[in-house]
Parts: sequence; structure tokens; C-alpha cells
Amino acid sequence: MARLSSTQQIPPRRDMPRHVAVIMDGNGRWARQRFLPRIAGHQRGSEAVRVFVEAAMQRGIAQVTLFAFSSENWRRPADEVSLLMSLFVHMLEKEVDRLHEVGVQLRVIGDRTALSASLQELIEAAEQKTRGNLRLTLTLAVNYGGRWDLLQAVNACIDSFPDRRIGRELTEGDIMAHLSLGDIPEPDLFIRTGGEQRISNFLLWQLAYTELYFTATLWPDFDGEALDRAIESYQTRERRFGRTSEQCSVPGS
Ligand code: FPP
Repeated sequence: MARLSSTQQIPPRRDMPRHVAVIMDGNGRWARQRFLPRIAGHQRGSEAVRVFVEAAMQRGIAQVTLFAFSSENWRRPADEVSLLMSLFVHMLEKEVDRLHEVGVQLRVIGDRTALSASLQELIEAAEQKTRGNLRLTLTLAVNYGGRWDLLQAVNACIDSFPDRRIGRELTEGDIMAHLSLGDIPEPDLFIRTGGEQRISNFLLWQLAYTELYFTATLWPDFDGEALDRAIESYQTRERRFGRTSEQCSVPGS
């Protein structure tokens, strides 16, 4: 029999998505439309992060993963990179207590080694402080790339064998156990704002069966109502995971 992909169980159709992953695009254009510098767009974008997390909590979404800085974003002008790093620092210094109070667990995925030592320390402290929180897990992808994640997972998997001798075929489970989000359900819903229709090296493995939603709304304008529209679209989709439509309409199939 053909080997089945080890994805999660099929959730009931009308459910709220458990895990929403977002590419927050359009900060620069939001600023340009207002004759403001790009960094003003990122500042408004970080406020939109707060709005989004609150809206997700109110709707009972348990996992939110946001693409905050890709491994390719280092190519941006130095002052923009530096502003984005200070926005992360600001969030970690000023927002973590509030997030902790409302039960948010904060996690960061991506290659941290390229981040400043002080940012790495702030990330570790925030993760440590909030690790017991269960209401919502907010994962920020910082210096993250999907190909990087797959490569580090394969390498970590090989390292986990004595003398790096595998001696058998690797399984999907072997790789998944070492992926950055290996311990949480894959995203049910992926949202990209700003009009582009690409995955852009985000969660390449985990998005295999995710429902994709693209909107022209720019990230700083993406509010609770915009999230509701994305959820409504998600709830009309039929998630078949390779089965036929008829099979999916039989409960327990
Ligand atoms: C893409 O917009 C956005 C980013 C590269 C960065 C996302 C960062 C934030 C939303 C702010 C900080 C986040 C946190 C978690 C504190 P773009 O600049 O590519 O927009 P454009 O396509 O209109 O130029």
C-alpha cells in the first residue's frame, strides 16, 4: 500500500481554524500611499500584530504564526532592517508582560545565530517566561526560511542517530520531529495580505494541506473584520486531503 502523508486528522468543516499562519505584506505600500517613510508602515504593521492577536484570541484560535522577517529580508536597506529589529526588541521589552497576563505563549522560529546577542537574550527570556501559557501560542518567524527549516531538520535528524549512522529509511515522522513547528498542528489557514499570491519560502512542509487565502488588504489595515472574512472563506472550503467529496461527507471517514 502507498505510504500516507502523515498530516493531521481532518477537522470538521465548519470549525474555527486551530492554527492560522500569516505573511504580513503591504506595510511599505501602506506608508507610500500616505507619503510616509516605509518604516512608518512597519510601525503601523506592528500595531496590526497586536490587533490580530487579540482578534484571534477572541475567536478561540489557538495557534498564530506570523512571518515577521524572512532570511531574504536582510537584503533590504540597512536602516529598514535596523528598524524592524528594533520593533522586535520593542515588542519583547514592552509587550511580553501584557501577552503573559492574557495567557499568550511566545515562541520564535528561525536562525537566531544571525540576530544580535541582546535580541537573542530577550527572545529566550520571553519564551521562558511565557512557556506555560496555553490560551494562544504566538510564533514569530524571524530570520526564517522554509528551506532553511527543512535543511536544519534533516541535519538534526541525522545527528540524532548514534555516529550519524541511520541504517534505515527516514520517515516523514523523523523529519517532522525536528521541524521548527514539529510539535504543533499544521496551519489550517494561511493568509497573505498585500495582493501577492506566493508562499515566499514560508512554512514549506507545513503548508502542504493548508487552505490558502490571499487578500489585497494591506497588513496595517488588516483588522478583526478582515480576519472574519478570511475565516468565512476557510469555512466554505472542503478539506479533502486526497479523498473524494463523497467520502468527506460521511462522518468519521
Ligand atoms: C512586508 O511588508 C512586511 C515585512 C517584511 C515585515 C513585517 C513586520 C511587521 C508587521 C512589523 C513588526 C512585527 C512584529 C512582530 C513586531 P513590505 O515592507 O514588503 O510591504 P510592501 O510590499 O508594501 O513594500
